[in-house]
Amino acid sequence: MCGIVGYVGPRDAVPIILEGLHRLEYRGYDSAGLAVLTRNGQVEIRREVGKLSNLDGLIAAEPLTGSPGIGHTRWATHGKPTRYNAHPHTDPERDVVIVHNGIVENFLELREELAAEGIRFASDTDTEVIAHLIDRYLHAGNDLVTAVRHALQRLEGASAVVVMSRHMPDTLIAARLGNAGGVVIGLGEGENFVASDIPAILPYTRRMIFLENRQAAVVEPERVRCFHLDTGVPFQPTVHTIPWDPLAAAKGEYKHFMQKEIFEQPQAITDTLRGRINFTTGEVTLEGLHLSPAEARALTRIHAVACGTSYYAALVGKYLLERIARVPVEVDYGSEFRYRDPILAETDVVLAISQSGETVDTLAALEEARRKQVRTWAIVNVVGSQAARVSDGVIYMQAGPEIGVASTKAFTASVVDEYLLALYIAQQRGLLTRQDALTHARALALLPKLVGDTLAAVDSITRELATKYYRARNFLYLGRGIHYPIALEGALKLKEISYIHAEGYPAGEMKHGPIALIDEDMPVVALVPQDHVYDKMVSQVEQVKARDGRVIAIANVGDELIAQKADDVIYIPKAPPLLQPVLSVIPCQLFAYYVAVRLGNDVDQPRNLAKSVTVE
Ligand code: G6P
Repeated sequence: MCGIVGYVGPRDAVPIILEGLHRLEYRGYDSAGLAVLTRNGQVEIRREVGKLSNLDGLIAAEPLTGSPGIGHTRWATHGKPTRYNAHPHTDPERDVVIVHNGIVENFLELREELAAEGIRFASDTDTEVIAHLIDRYLHAGNDLVTAVRHALQRLEGASAVVVMSRHMPDTLIAARLGNAGGVVIGLGEGENFVASDIPAILPYTRRMIFLENRQAAVVEPERVRCFHLDTGVPFQPTVHTIPWDPLAAAKGEYKHFMQKEIFEQPQAITDTLRGRINFTTGEVTLEGLHLSPAEARALTRIHAVACGTSYYAALVGKYLLERIARVPVEVDYGSEFRYRDPILAETDVVLAISQSGETVDTLAALEEARRKQVRTWAIVNVVGSQAARVSDGVIYMQAGPEIGVASTKAFTASVVDEYLLALYIAQQRGLLTRQDALTHARALALLPKLVGDTLAAVDSITRELATKYYRARNFLYLGRGIHYPIALEGALKLKEISYIHAEGYPAGEMKHGPIALIDEDMPVVALVPQDHVYDKMVSQVEQVKARDGRVIAIANVGDELIAQKADDVIYIPKAPPLLQPVLSVIPCQLFAYYVAVRLGNDVDQPRNLAKSVTVE
């Protein structure tokens, strides 16, 4: 959840680290800090509470320069967000200084052990024990690498750590223990970088090494030496080249990343389709999956696992996969899956959906599947992320970097990928006629344009409606069938960035509870596309109106009936029923965005949330 950046090389590390932290601030942001080795070989640290701009201010007032350096943005787990709990953490003599992501589960035990030796702690964090442990092993006569190895072997739980020491200048040591977010090493010319996330270091290099569980690296300006943490045995890492354009990680003409990413959806969908579907034959190729026709026919069930917005994308996927590929689909939250001892058959597949590929609960679900020897697939955006690496098959979203904490383009890209997956399985099972395949392919070919048309149609009306409704303290979102997950996602978007309570509900269930809440103070957003449950949705809108509720309907262009029933209508283009949710989610995203802007909230960095949740 926290962001980590490190630099080793001839340049001053401070601006590089600050810039990198700004690009990672979406990960966690209740405090931040950095440390450098100064010219005279001393460790200097600056830490500040609150947004990163506060740290910028502190460094402007109390400048420092040096190299190497490490920096951190924090999302508090142990200890309140205060200056003394902010990273980096060190020992009293400042021999060792570290930044950390994750949780040291046995930290109380380690803290007691260290306290018994007379060590006094300067923070409430679990992280600080790591610095003291390394320092203790150093004082026992070990070199730094051995001291780090011994110390990290004592930790329980998942952690990503970067260590710097005045005893080994021009060096950073990075290590990954379990799934506490990534450790990426960026390879430069005469300089190297370390980060928790690719965007932090993307402007400097596209050549990256990803550390796996229990791997570590000694990072120097001219070389990177990787080794296994437990044995110390070196290994040759794979160097990946990241396809992202660094410019794609900048805000450009937009006010917020979230706004930019909403408007990037036509491009993201084009990119996710690219090279995967032949628009003249309808044939789908998903190279990362390797599913033979026999395996496809033998497939008994797909267990989709995900968190947050990706979970709602998985719910949409259930409709697509069941309808097109005729495979039963169960959808689970990553955090629930492994704790209920799921029943998995040999011929089942566990499908993880994750923008970051680093969400710890989703990774845990993948581990559970592997433990039970079930095939795993992942729909992932971040190239080289843990979910992509540990899965048997991967479909990359190819949506480009998503920075806004509230996920938007990754949602629509995953839905389109699930559509492709459904077509691919159906094709391998021999369920699609040539004509069916072509009809689907044509519908997908038209989708980016329809998404663009939707954006153009709904941008100003969602802004106006945000001004009209932003004072409401509660919202209800209603949808049926494939639009029920869109109601859930619409409500989640509003909650995340506007802090307004919102609930998504299957419209037919409204009369079993939520109807009691309806009055003029609780607006209802109703998803009413002209599909097979249109009449039922209209009657649900009537039930709300009969109780003095206010209704904002999201409906298809040309639907005049709904205009007579609802207070406000947002018109969207009509798409084939299984692709309609890709369009209907867009006004939900923009409405939430404009409400949050109207309320003056920090859209890209909503309070308490983080882009990638790497703690349980
Ligand atoms: C966090 C983010 C959400 C995201 C969820 C799952 O809660 O704030 O926007 O949907 O994690 O993330 P993933 O990277 O696994 O899709």
